[in-house]
Amino acid sequence: MCGIVGYLGNKQAYPILIEGLKRLEYRGYDSAGIAILNGDLNLYKKKGKVKDLVKSIGGKSTAGTIGIGHTRWATHGEPNDINAHPHTSKNGRLSLIHNGVIENYESFKLALIERGHVFESETDTEVLVHLIEEIQKRDKLDLEEAVRQALTKVNGAYAIVVMDRDNPDILVAARKDSPLVIGIGKEEFYVASDGKAIIEHTKKVVYLKNEEIALLSRKGELSIKTINNDISTPFIQELDIELESIEKGDYEHFMLKEIFEQPKTVANCMRGRINADEGWIKVGGVNDLVQKFTEARRIIIIACGTSWHAALIGEYLFEELARIQVEVEYASEFRYRNPIIDERDIVIAISQSGETRDTLAAIEMAKEKGAVLYGIVNSVGSSIARITDAGSYIHVGPEIGVASTKAFTGQVSLLTLMAIHLGYQKGTIPRSYYLQLLEELENIPGKIEQILKKDAHIKYIAEEIKDSTNALYLGRGYNFPIALEGALKLKEISYIHAEGYPAAEMKHGPIALIDENMPVIVIATNKSIHEKMVTNIQEVKTRKAKVIAIVNEGDAEIKRLADYIIEIPETDEPITPLLSVIPLQMLSYHIALMRGCDVDQPRNLAKSVTVE
Ligand code: F6R
Repeated sequence: MCGIVGYLGNKQAYPILIEGLKRLEYRGYDSAGIAILNGDLNLYKKKGKVKDLVKSIGGKSTAGTIGIGHTRWATHGEPNDINAHPHTSKNGRLSLIHNGVIENYESFKLALIERGHVFESETDTEVLVHLIEEIQKRDKLDLEEAVRQALTKVNGAYAIVVMDRDNPDILVAARKDSPLVIGIGKEEFYVASDGKAIIEHTKKVVYLKNEEIALLSRKGELSIKTINNDISTPFIQELDIELESIEKGDYEHFMLKEIFEQPKTVANCMRGRINADEGWIKVGGVNDLVQKFTEARRIIIIACGTSWHAALIGEYLFEELARIQVEVEYASEFRYRNPIIDERDIVIAISQSGETRDTLAAIEMAKEKGAVLYGIVNSVGSSIARITDAGSYIHVGPEIGVASTKAFTGQVSLLTLMAIHLGYQKGTIPRSYYLQLLEELENIPGKIEQILKKDAHIKYIAEEIKDSTNALYLGRGYNFPIALEGALKLKEISYIHAEGYPAAEMKHGPIALIDENMPVIVIATNKSIHEKMVTNIQEVKTRKAKVIAIVNEGDAEIKRLADYIIEIPETDEPITPLLSVIPLQMLSYHIALMRGCDVDQPRNLAKSVTVE
């Protein structure tokens, strides 16, 4: 949440900052701003997106080879020009960008006001820059030391970059619980929330660790120390992202591109991990922990949002195939309970970004209690990937659309591989079924391809229901989490209120909502409970709802009952979610587009939720 970018070197900072901000916009897009030094400080801030900022700057002066930029997801203070970052200090000398939340800012603000400071914005960030300036002036400190001392006083999360008008040859950056990466060029430095913002310029990076402060100088020197004033040695790594993977290519939206990439991304996730002909599965992180997993008292899976839906599918998979008890937890709830957890438990964190604040905090707590931590993560080198004891990347490439699609199928693919692997190792599934599942998994990319060919049909159905104000998604078994995910996809990008429900549970409340205006999307591909789904559809039809059913190819019975059907290729039940979610992603995409919504950047949302 919030994207920050900085540049110091010999090139013009403005185009680098603007391009970087556009690439970080998935992190928040309530307002944007930049500050560039060129003798004076040129500061531009605008409510709205980066394009609105660029428009408002027009032909004004943007020259300068040092600058910082910010794209905001508002926490303290509504999205407007004044609350937009960068924020400046009392005398205008320092400017600062911030991703995170300073929790104890109020007490500092009151004290600073008493000492004559005047605040323009409602943000916690403005308080931080005033505090740094006060400490710097009072104790006659250099900027780095003033930042360090200020940071020892504040609570909360931050990734910050500070620029000093009177010293245009340095930038100071620091982080705690919000990500920050430093890009190293030839006598130049880039700073960003995420490598995507700087990949065009350099692949050599240093990921700043928690509570570290970096001093970047125009001479090309980088020094890092901890907030406790200990020297750290920068560890230079290679960024593992390709430029085309973060561009839309020929697609109108990132979400569409990412939906259509899924045959490839699911295959990439399984590549080198499965071979049906030779009858093996290898999931690196699991191989090292097979005994721990098979002997674990239980697995606790922690996640948020779409990743939480993948976790629910994991519960069905691990319990059915490997007979391991599983609990699925919302990270934000888990961390504030007093959960019973110890070294006999394995905690799996699922996160696309690897930076979700609640997930990170929840697993930190589980680690303290002695649990073994396993990460299922997409973003390489992210915080969750680093803190876990073992784990697996899903290898689906950068996901830019705010609504998660290919990361979800990557997470589910990985969980499926793990459950089959552990089930076979434990002897809870016979070899014949194991081989059948492997073979079927290898067929999944091709089957997703077949579903994607139904785009025109799905678009037609979208047209029929796009004006609804509510929608109900029903599924059972492996398709219950898919009902939740379908509903989340619809509500987050089209702003239609949607609920996912276990199909049989509908009778206990939601059925009261059903009338001719309510589209009901039924995911009815599980053979083992087909008859029960037919009954549920009949209950819905009797109340005049419009039924859209996702069914296996050739399902004549549901075809007779439903208003619209989307047929998908049949597969083994534990693998069904990898197919049944695809038409729901496509349906949401088309409905949102038809309603004129911003598909890639839906209102109020951000891709990487680094605040609680
Ligand atoms: C929904 C969506 C969010 C994320 C959630 C967790 O489409 O993208 O619900 O799934 O914010 O994010 P990660 O997986 O990065 O921890």
